[in-house]
Amino acid sequence: MDTHVVFGTGQVGTALAGHLAGLGISVRAVSRHRPAGRPGIDWRAADATDPEAAADAAKGASVIYQCLNAPYTQWPERFPPLQRGVLAAAERTGALLVTLENLYGYGPTGGRAIREDLPLAATTVKGRTRAAMTAELLAAAEAGRVRVAIGRASDFFGPAVTEGSTLGMRVFGNALAGRRADFIGDPGLPHTYSYVPDIAAGLATLGTDPRAAGQVWHLPGPATGTTRALVDLLADQVGHRVGVRSVPKLVVRALSLANPLMRELAEMSYQFEEPFVLDTSKYESVFGAAGTPLADAVAATLAWYRTQASAS
Ligand SMILES: NC(=O)c1ccc[n+]([C@@H]2O[C@H](COP(=O)([O-])OP(=O)(O)OC[C@H]3O[C@@H](n4cnc5c(N)ncnc54)[C@H](OP(=O)(O)O)[C@@H]3O)[C@@H](O)[C@H]2O)c1
Repeated sequence: MDTHVVFGTGQVGTALAGHLAGLGISVRAVSRHRPAGRPGIDWRAADATDPEAAADAAKGASVIYQCLNAPYTQWPERFPPLQRGVLAAAERTGALLVTLENLYGYGPTGGRAIREDLPLAATTVKGRTRAAMTAELLAAAEAGRVRVAIGRASDFFGPAVTEGSTLGMRVFGNALAGRRADFIGDPGLPHTYSYVPDIAAGLATLGTDPRAAGQVWHLPGPATGTTRALVDLLADQVGHRVGVRSVPKLVVRALSLANPLMRELAEMSYQFEEPFVLDTSKYESVFGAAGTPLADAVAATLAWYRTQASAS
């Protein structure tokens, strides 16, 4: 039986491993720290920056997924070595490598819809890091060392997505607690938010459909609207008004002088100062329409937040 190996047991890696297991695929998850037990999913400890350890953890894989992440304030130093270890593992096993990327590599588009054929013209530190990582992958594929399929998604939300997202605790948690949603930028602009279960389903398609290899794919999710419309939908579902506290850019910049995380958020604030719309038509024209309706995605996310609130 084919074994699919998922590097990363975080927000996406966990959802992906569960999705693959649900498809009846034998799954092994890899990270440094043991995640909470998940029936049907084997887990192996390995430091992905060690190519030997990564290759050993991926032994027997027909597909490897890269769903790792580095600390947000240390991307240039810490993220490329993670991917290099997984790339080495894919080269040694001969497995197809499916990687998940965000949209930082494109840089500002002036509000144009983001398609796969846009250049990677990032102007930020994290965006240039991401673009350089993509270039490394594509160079390895071009040289015939590995087969790669790249999936890209926008800022995501979903069950168990809390701190590492603009649509996490500060929006869903605050709304449930009767507080305003905290947000950077203009909530009146269209902004694509991806939904983690949809990302998992999209990556699984890239790992199982032979048409995916050798290309970049934007993964479908709920339909795009404005952030304010999403918050209004959330308000309908929590049953009370949810205000939006939009932190002005100048305040973000001032805070970033003393706070490294704010500095990292500040360089990405362009995403919320122009329309930020992910075009997923390429994926849908090949693999079929996909993506959870926004109201259902918000309801499932809220249901998870409710279980957390009642457990605490
Ligand atoms: N946040 C968003 O809105 C968004 C949107 C689109 C795409 N993305 C992208 O999606 C990808 C996955 O992000 P995520 O939020 O799911 O990540 P995450 O929740 O931060 O999880 C990262 C995982 O990487 C593992 N890891 C870190 N260092 C490791 C090492 N040296 N060896 C082995 N495992 C290691 C961690 O486990 P251990 O610490 O136990 O090792 C953890 O399981 C990233 O590329 C991210 O940029 C994010």
